[in-house]
Amino acid sequence: MDNLFVKILLVLCYGVSRQACAEIQIIGTGTGRTGSTTLQNALNILGYKTYHMKDILTGGKDRIPELDFWFHAFETNSCHDTDELRNIFERGGYNATVHAINFPCHEALLFQMYPNAKVIHTQRTNSEVWHDSVTNSICKLSSSGFLQIMGIISPVFRRFKRFTPLLMGRAIVGLDGRAENVNKQYCLDHKEQMIKFYNSHNARIKAIVPPERLLVLSNHEHGWEPICNFLGVPIPSVPFPHVNKRGSTLNRIYFLVSSILANQADSSLGIIAVVICLLIVLALIRNWERRRVMRRKSKSN
Ligand SMILES: *[C@@H]1O[C@H](CO)[C@@H](O)[C@H](O)[C@H]1NC(C)=O
Repeated sequence: MDNLFVKILLVLCYGVSRQACAEIQIIGTGTGRTGSTTLQNALNILGYKTYHMKDILTGGKDRIPELDFWFHAFETNSCHDTDELRNIFERGGYNATVHAINFPCHEALLFQMYPNAKVIHTQRTNSEVWHDSVTNSICKLSSSGFLQIMGIISPVFRRFKRFTPLLMGRAIVGLDGRAENVNKQYCLDHKEQMIKFYNSHNARIKAIVPPERLLVLSNHEHGWEPICNFLGVPIPSVPFPHVNKRGSTLNRIYFLVSSILANQADSSLGIIAVVICLLIVLALIRNWERRRVMRRKSKSN
């Protein structure tokens, strides 16, 4: 009997402490292509479990309701159900969240749901650098055959394809709604608008978040130091995990392979899809190698 009592107590304590650990403690407010993946990796090394859109895409079918939550939030431009959002974070045991997917929920996250969470705002050295980076990565990706094919293979990507115009529209281009048919040219044509959006988003976050709660990072150029100082933790012995610097290509391969590994392919199409994917991966690797060789050549010249 005693034993049972202790067990119940332990389970309760575990539940309570888990709850406390799972409370969001860090909110990243940077828009796309400002280093959120790097921030995620850095925070994970520091012991956080960090929410990022990538995890939804590679997470399999049971993440679809989550994607639907965000779809609805972006569509209505409101954080329509903060209880559901809290559930999403708690179900996954997350205690930090960094991706631009948070956009419609920034206010709710910062002031309503987690008023004690610290805020890390990532940005690039300047708006030109940001626009250039976006144009040469996600703008191309939005229109690529990659998304089309992934949409055939994976139910998560099928939903994501529907979601992309909203995500691009509200969190990258700065529209009041969808950005349809985004490609490189689209982003070149909308440069002025995008830069205006980028600047005003950065200014807004700095205006609404009290300075003692906010850390602004440009290009992650100072690595661990500002983050660890801000969080009051020692600098880890491992190098700062810079990722995503170049190479949307490698990113695509990453998405592709990890999605397949996550086994979210519809079974009927699975085998065809895997073959197509392997061919694409091979082509991408060859393309990447060729560019690397070209870069090396142009360096040595
Ligand atoms: C964040 O969550 C992880 C995984 O649940 C946990 O191990 C870690 O201690 C938590 N970190 C903090 C700072 O609470």
